[in-house]
Amino acid sequence: MRKPSFPILLTLFGSLALVLAGLMIANPLDGEPRSELLQFFGRFHPTVLHLPIAFILLLAILETRTFFKPSSSLKPAIPLILTLSIGSVLLAVLTGFLLAYAGGSNEELVIEHMRMSIFLAIGALAMGSLKLFWDQRFAKTAYRLLLLVNLGLLASSSHDGGSLTHGRDYLTKYMPNVIRPIFGLSVEAKSTANSVDDLVVFKDLIHPIIEQNCLTCHNPDKQKGELSLETYAGHLEGGDMGPSVVPNDADNSELVFRITLPEDDEEFMPTDGKPPLTTEEVAFISWWIENGASDTATVASFETIPAAIEQYIVGVFDMMLTPEEIEAQEAKRIELYAKLNKLNDELGILITPIETDASKFRIDTFSAQKSFDRKMLKRLAPFADTIIEADFSSTQLSDASISMISQFKNLRTLNLSKTQIEGSTLANLAKVESLESLNLYGSQVKSRQIEQLAKLTQLKRLYLFQTELYSKVTIERLRAALPDCEIDLNDNAI
Ligand code: HEC
Repeated sequence: MRKPSFPILLTLFGSLALVLAGLMIANPLDGEPRSELLQFFGRFHPTVLHLPIAFILLLAILETRTFFKPSSSLKPAIPLILTLSIGSVLLAVLTGFLLAYAGGSNEELVIEHMRMSIFLAIGALAMGSLKLFWDQRFAKTAYRLLLLVNLGLLASSSHDGGSLTHGRDYLTKYMPNVIRPIFGLSVEAKSTANSVDDLVVFKDLIHPIIEQNCLTCHNPDKQKGELSLETYAGHLEGGDMGPSVVPNDADNSELVFRITLPEDDEEFMPTDGKPPLTTEEVAFISWWIENGASDTATVASFETIPAAIEQYIVGVFDMMLTPEEIEAQEAKRIELYAKLNKLNDELGILITPIETDASKFRIDTFSAQKSFDRKMLKRLAPFADTIIEADFSSTQLSDASISMISQFKNLRTLNLSKTQIEGSTLANLAKVESLESLNLYGSQVKSRQIEQLAKLTQLKRLYLFQTELYSKVTIERLRAALPDCEIDLNDNAI
C-alpha cells in the first residue's frame, strides 16, 4: 500500500464512523421490530463478525513479530491488515446495529455487546490515527497499549455475542469440574441418577429439551415474549400471554400450544426455522404438564407411566451415560447375572430380568415349590434390592419368613398363595413401601389376623380367595381400612 492512501482511507473510515454514530443516536434500540429489508442486512452480522476477529488477531501477531524482529519481512503487511481491521469492525458494528434495531432486540446483553463493539471500533480508529504520528515516540507506546486494550474488548465483545446466540453458559457448560472453580463457576450438578427411577422429571428430562431448543431466545438476557424458560419458576410465570405452563392442564398451557401448532404457523416454537421438537419430546412435555408439572417429582413417583413415555425416558437415560459408565454398568450387570444364574441352578428357581430395566428381577419358584424354604430365601438376601416381583406360591415359606421378605424393599408384587402362612406377621410388610400387590389366595391366613392386613395401607391389590378371610363381611371391613386397595371378591389371578 502506498503511503498517501492510508490517511485517505482512515479519513473515510472516520467519516463513516461518525455517520454510523449519528444513525445510532437518532435511532436508539426500542425493542420494536422494523422493516424486513433492514433485517435482511442485519442478518449478515453473524457472518461479517468473524472478519474483525481474524484481522485484529492477525494484526496482534504481526505487531508482536516486528516488535521483536524489526527487520521482519512481515512489516509491510501491517498497514493493510490495520486498514482491514478498522473497516471490518465498522462493518460488523453496522450490521450488528441493524440486526438489533430491525430485529427489535434491546436486552441488556445486546446493549452491553454493542457498547463493547463500539469501544472496539473507536479503539481501532484510534490505532489507525496513531500510525499517522508514527515518528513521534509517544505514538508507538500508545499504539501498543491500545492494541492490548482492543484485544480485551474483542474478547469481551465476542463472548457477549456468543452468549447472545447460544445462551450465557454455552461455552462453560461442559467445562471439566476440576477447573470450573477457577472461573468462579459452580460445579455442574450432573444428574446423580443411578437408574431411570431416580431421574428428576423436570431437571433431568424436561429442562434439557428446553435448554437445547428454547433457551437461546428465552433466557434472562434475552426474554422473547417476556418469557424466560431458564428456571422452573419461569415456566409457571410465563410471558406476555400469561403462564406458559399450567400444571395438570396442557390444553391451557401456552408452551404446549406453541409447540403443537402447525410448523408454518407464525406463532410456532421454536421460531426462526429452528428444528422443531420431536413428536416424542412434545408428547413427553404434554404428559409432564398433564400430570402435575412438578419440579421435584422423580420417575419413580409416578404410579403408572404410559409405555411410549417410559420408552422415551429410558432412551434419554441411556444417552446420559458416558461410554465408561455404560461399560461399568454392563460389567456389573454381567456379574450379577452370573451370580443369579448360579442361584437359579442351585435352588431350581427362576430369576428373570423385568423387561424395560434389566437390573430389576422377578423370582419364580414354581419348579422348586415344595422344596423352597426359609434357608433358600436367605440365599436371596444379597439381591433383595433388585427383586421387584416375587412368586413364592406353594413353597414352604411360613409366618417366620415374612420379616425376611420385608427386607426386599423394592418389591412391588408378592405372591404367597397356597403357602402355610397364617398371617400373624404380615404387618411387617408395611415396611415395603413399594408393595402394590399381595396374593394370599389359598393360604392358611386366619380371619383373626385381619388387623395385620389392615396395616398394609400401601397395597393397591389384595387377593384373598379361598382363605378364611374371603367373606363379604371381612372384605368390607378390610376395604374400609384400605380404601386405596382393590380387594376382589371373584378375581384370584395376580
Ligand atoms: C429464535 C428464537 C426463539 C426460539 C428458539 C424459541 N422462541 Fe419462543 N418466542 C420467540 C419470540 C420472538 C416470541 C414472541 C413472539 C410470539 O409471541 O410469538 C416467543 C414467544 C414464546 C411464547 C409466548 C410467550 C408469551 O407469553 O408471550 C412461548 C410460550 C414460547 N415462545 C415458547 C418457546 C418454546 C417452548 C421454545 C422451544 C421449543 C421456544 N419458544 C423457542 C422466539 C423464540
